[in-house]
Order: sequence, then structure tokens, then C-alpha cells
Amino acid sequence: MATMEIRPLKKLQGEVTVPGDKSISHRAVMFGALAKGTTEITHFLQGADCLSTIGCFREMGIQIENTPEKILVHGKGLHGLSAPSRTLDVGNSGTTTRLISGILSGQSFSSVLSGDASLNSRPMNRIILPLQEMGADIASVNGNGCAPLRIRKGNLHSIHYTSRVASAQVKSAILLAGLYAGDGDTSVTEPVLSRNHTELMLQGFGASVSSQVHEGGSATATVSPCQELFARQIKVPGDISSAAYLIAAALLVPNAELLIRNVGVNPTRAGVLDVCRAMGADITYLNENADSGEPVADLLVRSSSLHGTVIEGSIIPTLIDEIPILAVLAAFANGTTVIRDAAELKVKETDRIKTTTEGLRALGADVTPTEDGMIIQGGSPIHGGTVNSYLDHRIAMAFSIAGLAADGPVTILDSQCVDVSWPGFYELF
Ligand code: S3P
Repeated sequence: MATMEIRPLKKLQGEVTVPGDKSISHRAVMFGALAKGTTEITHFLQGADCLSTIGCFREMGIQIENTPEKILVHGKGLHGLSAPSRTLDVGNSGTTTRLISGILSGQSFSSVLSGDASLNSRPMNRIILPLQEMGADIASVNGNGCAPLRIRKGNLHSIHYTSRVASAQVKSAILLAGLYAGDGDTSVTEPVLSRNHTELMLQGFGASVSSQVHEGGSATATVSPCQELFARQIKVPGDISSAAYLIAAALLVPNAELLIRNVGVNPTRAGVLDVCRAMGADITYLNENADSGEPVADLLVRSSSLHGTVIEGSIIPTLIDEIPILAVLAAFANGTTVIRDAAELKVKETDRIKTTTEGLRALGADVTPTEDGMIIQGGSPIHGGTVNSYLDHRIAMAFSIAGLAADGPVTILDSQCVDVSWPGFYELF
């Protein structure tokens, strides 16, 4: 068990890059494994979650070269995976578990996947049920709707699925199974558009994918069954979810000016920037481009005096992973911040309504948890203290940033969990 003590900062200036996007890194390995030929990935996130994805595909016979400059995935085509000789270890990674389940549902071999205690307590019926509806033979081994999951050869057919939650993991699992459903197009409608990296990247690999946002905000993604995917080069943009911690640092620390280079600003992910601006943040986009197939920009962030806001509705899926750090910003802001419509926080690596509230209270903030979010009365003095990360990387990082602006040092328990999405986070500090 590692602990880390973070002390207040008086000034912050410079230029940084953040590690590659986690969602995009996972998908690049998965789709590369299913494509014919060698996919070259640069700025891949070497975090524990993405390494779990690499481990699973290696276990299924895919050769993956991992060097500091690039990843080479020697794909074997849509039907080229081989039966794993042991349980696939998905670690702490919900994205690995849910996306790979869609892929495994289309294979002619049996597999079992399992992860750590947190992962094995997260809800999997959200993918089990639609995949079963497609004809997949997938079940929760312990019958509790959680991993370990057992997947046997099924016979997939297309469906039109309406999901209750806006979840890119659910959407992606179904679309990936849809590649193997020979009888027609598979579509997923979600209440609000969730991150669309699967749709964008699958198209780049040669699949036929379309998306539509309907009046009222619901969205449908459709995939056609596919004969072949084709290897390609992927430049992974910097992860906006990681950039969010540095943005918050630059906003909170006095005399700060930070240039964060090459950040993915896909609108289905960039809600954190809109909310920060609504709170009075000084953030400028520079060098916007979409060279990698995903929108990217450099972000110039300066110290700002923040005020409270309301975070609700259709913006929630675009910033769901950033709510712990937004809650920290709200504690330092003047006035009240209300976060609602975010019940999905309860089924992340931890129940983030609980863990965020507990962390804020440990530092003296005035926060009230609600069923689907929290209410933060900003402006109380934020003092030092000890925050339990509960092994949740985003809790550890969010409260580390609080330590830069608090009145005294903040100690983070189990701080090593940052390795899930940002190995080297504390070295950068
Ligand atoms: C992810 C989707 C989101 C997000 C997670 C990564 C993805 O989860 O919270 O960190 O890569 O598809 P949900 O699909 O459960 O909303």
C-alpha cells in the first residue's frame, strides 16, 4: 500500500503532454487484433487497464509488440483468434470486459473472463442481456450478474437494441457482436449519445458504421456484418480525462499558466471543458485539428476565479469520468454546484458518489450526496487531510489536485492505483 502526500503550490507554469486516451488505446488493440495485417499504434496508453487488453489478446494468439515508441498488433482477421488456455484476466478494466465480451460472443471457442474484486462486482447484465438477445451463449458464472463471465459458441443474429443507459461500453459490445451477426444490420439506441470512439475507429478499419442523433437527443449507431477489417496506423490523442486533472490544477493554483498539448477534444468527451468554462475558467483552444480521425487541440489554461454551476442532463455522459475532479473544483468555487442525472457514478471503479463525497468531507468541504449526484456548497476553507482512494485511480488523482490548492497537505491512501490510467502521474508532479 503506497501513500502520497501532496503539498500546496504557489505557482504553476509550463508545457505538458498527457498520456494517450484510454478508451481509444483499448479499441486500437482490439480492432487491430481483429484486422488483417499489422496495426501500428503511437502514443498508446501504457496504463494497467490497456495492458489488460493486450494480455487478453496475446492469450488468444495475437502477437503484440510493445515498445516505448509504438505498439504493433499483428492482427489475424475477424476469425483469427484462438481459444485461450486459461481465464482471461481483465484486471480492473470495465472497458476490456464489456467490449471483449461482444467480440468473444462471435467466436467459435469457449472462454471465461474475470477481473479484480472491484471489476467482479460491477454490473454486467447490461451487456449479458442484449448479447443473449443476439443469440450469444454468455452467462455470469456465479449467477449474480457480474464477472466472472463464461462465453461459449453461440449463433449470432442482428438486433435493434434500446439501451436504458447511455454507455459506450454497452453500445460497443453490441456493435462488435454485430460484426459477426450475418443476417443484417445491428443497431443500438441510447438515451443520449455516449462517446463514439468505436464508431469512428471501426469505420477507419473498414467496417460499415453509421450514427444518427435524433430530435430530443437520443442516438442510434448501426453496424453491418463485416467480412474483413483492415490494419491501419493510429495516433492516439492525449486523454482528456487525464488532462482534466492538469486543467483543474492550473485553474486552482495561483499564478498558473499551463499549455497541455495534443488533447482529444471529441465533443462526446469534452463536457468537462464546457463546464469549466461555465464556472468561469480561462481555457483557450489552440492548434485544433483532426489528423488522427479524432478532434485534437492544445489547451492553454490560466488560474481562474470559479463559481458554482449546475451539471445535469445530456452533458453527463460526456464528462462522467471527470465528475470527481469537477466536484473538487466546485469545492473551491464560490457558490453552489449541483450535479444530477449521474447515477452511473455508483457503478464505476468505486461508487463515486460515496468516495467523492467522503474525500471532500475529509478536507472540510460542504457536500451532500444525492441519489444521482451531489450538491456542493463551495467556498468553505479546504484544509489538508487524508483521503482514501479505495483503489480508484480517478479518486486518487482528483484529491491529489485538491492537495495543490488546499490550506495544508493532503495524503492519498493507496495512491499506486493511478497506474490504471496514468503511470507516472506522481513523477510529473
Ligand atoms: C468507456 C466508457 C465509459 C467510461 C469508461 C470508458 C469506454 O463507461 O466511464 O471509463 O471506453 O467506452 P460506460 O460505458 O459504463 O459509461
